[in-house]
Amino acid sequence: MKVALGCDHGGYGLMQEIKAWLESKGIEYVDFGTDSPEATDYAIYAKRVAKAILAGECDRGILICGTGIGISITANKFKGIRAALCSDCFSAQATREHNDANIVAFGARVVGPGLAIKIVDTFLHTEFSGAERHVRRIAQIESDME
Ligand code: RB5
Repeated sequence: MKVALGCDHGGYGLMQEIKAWLESKGIEYVDFGTDSPEATDYAIYAKRVAKAILAGECDRGILICGTGIGISITANKFKGIRAALCSDCFSAQATREHNDANIVAFGARVVGPGLAIKIVDTFLHTEFSGAERHVRRIAQIESDME
């Protein structure tokens, strides 16, 4: 599995901890920035990560900003992206099983590194249930949107 990473300055420090954890587990990732704690704009990185997933370059994504809100709102503008803002492991598991979420987002000002890593671990290691009702509901997310 290849994971796409994106964060703004608010998520930069936490993303470095996530990267170290991914490396320790031998999980491949592509870092789409930002690459310093200098102030920047979260939409830039949400777009890069969403596009990498839709292009099939990466399988899942992790997005972090201060709250996780701006960066997940941006990613969810892309058809085919299901970015789940999670601050607990139950939600991270449920969003994989029920929503087949392809991006997990969280806020570095909301969750600490220990919890963030547990959320990532849960998100990356939980499969979509494939149940008919969930397939149907996911299809409904993008139907009749005009
Ligand atoms: C940056 O200060 C902050 O607004 C951003 O990281 C994020 O929380 C926006 O939703």
